[in-house]
Amino acid sequence: MIRRDTRRPRAKLPSTAADPKQRAARGEVYLVGAGPGDPDLLTLRALALMKRAEVALYDNLISPEILELLPAGVERIYVGKRRADHAMRQEVINALLVEYALAGKRVLRLKGGDPFIFGRGGEEIDTLSAHGIRFEVVPGITAALGAAAYAGIPLTHRDHAQSCVFVTGNLKDGSVDLDWEALARPRQTIVVYMGLLSLPVICRELVAHGLPRDTGAAVVQHGTTSTQRVVTGTLGTLAARVARAKLHAPTLIIVGNVVRLREQLARFTPASSTRRTT
Ligand SMILES: C[S@@+](CC[C@H](N)C(=O)[O-])C[C@H]1O[C@@H](n2cnc3c(N)ncnc32)[C@H](O)[C@@H]1O
Repeated sequence: MIRRDTRRPRAKLPSTAADPKQRAARGEVYLVGAGPGDPDLLTLRALALMKRAEVALYDNLISPEILELLPAGVERIYVGKRRADHAMRQEVINALLVEYALAGKRVLRLKGGDPFIFGRGGEEIDTLSAHGIRFEVVPGITAALGAAAYAGIPLTHRDHAQSCVFVTGNLKDGSVDLDWEALARPRQTIVVYMGLLSLPVICRELVAHGLPRDTGAAVVQHGTTSTQRVVTGTLGTLAARVARAKLHAPTLIIVGNVVRLREQLARFTPASSTRRTT
């Protein structure tokens, strides 16, 4: 794995007013969702573009098994972002995409899950359009869909949940800034991305805003990978169980009575499965 120190862009973003000849010489950028981890969940289009790429910029959610599918000659650049460990600022990533495309390269921007679900894909394509660079966006299976399916939790169900919302649980100034009233509706599943640290607050606020303490809830760590772990409980018990299990990111929190269906669906998990449950 090549990890360049790319905290500073090698070039400033060039002027957006380009002449037509220069535009023709440009490369292109593929903004590809790589799914939640299991390489079997890549789309055919994702794989085809991985094979065409000359340079790949990838983040920390891209599993080693997926990186192995890149052809040997592809230049690999880690641009991973973790909480408190931002390997590279978003503006620097944007600048690198432009820089490589202007050098005529076919650039793969490989992102975990789907590029447009909490993935800042919108900012990257804004920059590319501003510089007249051709790009293609390939949707990926977002973590909520992959992790829930592999954990045996249907996100909607005729008898239990008619809606499903995805939110981010990132702490802002030490508090979780969510619309608790809208979230604490009955017959709704809530999936929280980036919420592990805020789990106790999330459970407490949902109960304070009207959800019963015995509402089903789960945390899925490393969903769809061979190290997947699932801890289940209720809004009243989950935070303590997760603390005991010492889960770590990336994780998703799933809240709703669909979580209870897991026991029923788990019976159909293939015997060869490596999926773990705590
Ligand atoms: C910056 S967001 C990117 C989401 C991504 N674009 C997607 O569509 O899944 C990163 C968060 O997604 C969630 N996540 C991504 N992959 C995951 C996985 N395999 N298992 C559990 N959660 C995952 C975690 O909450 C993680 O902190």
